[in-house]
Order: sequence, then C-alpha cells, then structure tokens
Amino acid sequence: MTYRRCGNSGILLPEISLGLWHNFGAGADTAECRDMIARAMELGICHFDLADNYGPPPGSAEACFGRLLKSHFAGLRDEMFISTKAGHLMWRGVYGDWGSRKHLIAGLNQSLRRLQLDYVDVFYHHRPDPHTPLEETIGALVDIVRSGKALYIGLSKYPPALFKQACAMLRAEKVPCLLHQFRYNLLDRACEAETLPTVAEEQTGSIVFSPLAQGMLTGKYLCGTLPAASRAADASSVFLDEDKVQADMERVRHLQNIADAAGIPLTQLALRWLLRREEITSVLIGARTVEQLEQCAAATGQSPLPPDVLTALQ
Ligand SMILES: NC(=O)c1ccc[n+]([C@@H]2O[C@H](COP(=O)([O-])OP(=O)(O)OC[C@H]3O[C@@H](n4cnc5c(N)ncnc54)[C@H](OP(=O)(O)O)[C@@H]3O)[C@@H](O)[C@H]2O)c1
Repeated sequence: MTYRRCGNSGILLPEISLGLWHNFGAGADTAECRDMIARAMELGICHFDLADNYGPPPGSAEACFGRLLKSHFAGLRDEMFISTKAGHLMWRGVYGDWGSRKHLIAGLNQSLRRLQLDYVDVFYHHRPDPHTPLEETIGALVDIVRSGKALYIGLSKYPPALFKQACAMLRAEKVPCLLHQFRYNLLDRACEAETLPTVAEEQTGSIVFSPLAQGMLTGKYLCGTLPAASRAADASSVFLDEDKVQADMERVRHLQNIADAAGIPLTQLALRWLLRREEITSVLIGARTVEQLEQCAAATGQSPLPPDVLTALQ
C-alpha cells in the first residue's frame, strides 16, 4: 500500500480507505465483515470510515465494527485510523440532527459507546447546517478535540467558501482541519472546479467518497439486469436504484469501452484516475466482499495511467 500525507499534518493515510456506509449493518454477514477488516489490515488499508447513521438501521455499522474490534482486533487499535461523523438525522426529537453543540457532543458520545472506544481518530461534521452559527459548530468541534474524544477534526460536504471560513476558525483555535470529505468519481467531477483547489490552498487532506459511483463504475450493471446481490437491487439503498443506473448507462458503457481498449478493469481505471490528483490523500471505497476489497486495493502501487487513456477520459 502507498501512503499519502494528509495536507500539512503528521498523518499518513493509505491511498485506499474502507468505508462502512453499507454492508456492515444489522443484516450483514458478520464473518464477511470480520474478514474484510482483517484483509484490509493485511493490505495496509488501515483507515476505516464510519458515521453515526450508517447501517441500516442507523448506529448498527458502528455497533458491528465496535463488536469486531473488541473480539478480533483489540490489539490493533493503534495501527488503525478510525473516523466517525454526526450531522445527519440520527435520533428523534429536536436535537437529533444538524450541527448544534448539543447534537455533535451527544452524537459523538453515542458513537463512542457503540464503537466501544474511548476516542476516534477523526470526528467529522457530516454536512453543513444552514441554521446553526458556524461559530457554534466549530466551537463544539474544538472542544471535542480538547476533551480527547477525537484526535482530529474533519468536515464533510462543506461548500468551498464555508470550508475556507471553517478552516480559518479551526486554525485560530490551533485545531486545524485534518480532512475534507466529498464525492468525486468519473461520473461526478463537480469538485474539480473549486473544492480541489480550495483543499490545496488550505493545505488540508482530502478523502473522496463513492469513487465507483456506488458500484456503477465496476461495469456490473451493463448486462441489463440488476445483479441480485447489488446495491441498486437493495430496497434499503435509497441513493441508488434501477432508474439511476439506467440514467447513467450510456456514460458507463463509454467508460467500459475505454477500459477494455486500455486492458485495465474498469474498477481499477476509475480508482487510478482519481489517484492521479495529488490533492487527494485517499480514495474511500465501499465493499461487500473480501474479493471486491482486493480488486479495489489492486488499483494502488500502479504506474500513472498512460496519457492517451487520460485524454480519452477527459
Ligand atoms: N460524507 C458523506 O456524506 C459520504 C457519503 C457517501 C459515502 N461516504 C463514505 O464513502 C464510503 C464509500 O462510498 P460508496 O460505498 O458509495 O463507495 P463506492 O466504492 O463507490 O461503492 C461501493 C460499492 O460498489 C460495489 N463494489 C465495490 N467494489 C466492487 C467490485 N470490485 N466489483 C463489483 N462491485 C463492487 C459494492 O456494492 P454492491 O456489491 O452492493 O453492489 C460496494 O459496496 C462509504 O462507506 C462512506 O464511508 C461518505
């Protein structure tokens, strides 16, 4: 595994990190979850990304990971870099969502109980809150680091101007933002215009999610029918369904043709294309099986994509 420095911090992250948004919830195969974590560690994928609401149901991915950490990986805590987040709807009542001090501190305390940990390595505000003053959110994040319950702060899905403001506030408190987390893949390049330059300017790390467009960039949906064991076929997966798959089918077919001509599996092409950008610290994948994890990990340690392939992907 190749490791990249996270902005101007002391932290190195693997080029590929593993997210637990899907496949670690209450219905997951616990043995497969355990094997994925074990294989990830063998491959050098030591960064695991969670959030309070990952499951389903919300909370169950943290609970699963916490149980496995205790039963199988307790001795590896210091070799792992574990993140969680709060800021999406998590519990009933007026304090169960967004970015107030009350929500963030209560949310992290709940996460630590589920994870059976004393601290996480990174605690993120999961999304900006248009109603809470930024000072309140940032003040809570600073106090969380000072309390020892998180070592670093991350921000997720913050638009560039707000991200800059938040970074300045955090820097002023000597709790610099470690990581910005946002979506980037061959089908969604919106971050190229402003977010990537902002991250470089702020000298923070960056970690990009849904690099395979939730599985579409593996080519698995090109056969015309939804594979039974796939995210698009899973009714609990609200952000990918047959309509979305159909809408992007032609673009994916075009990318598959480029991958075939280059002799590179589409999954690896998609990940290597992201890793060409030096502003990106880590590419945050999801996996259902050990085999998928290994196929994604194979994208690291490769030579840069040839110029003709990069041109075709423009
Ligand atoms: N900050 C945020 O708001 C936010 C939002 C979204 C995600 N995230 C983070 O980013 C992580 C990754 O997001 P993502 O799960 O959307 O990433 P992704 O890598 O784009 O999609 C992962 C899914 O693709 C399929 N897949 C992966 N490798 C495959 C292979 N070799 N062959 C066939 N199918 C394969 C699997 O789904 P199936 O087998 O089920 O089809 C897998 O669960 C999340 O776990 C989470 O930690 C953060």
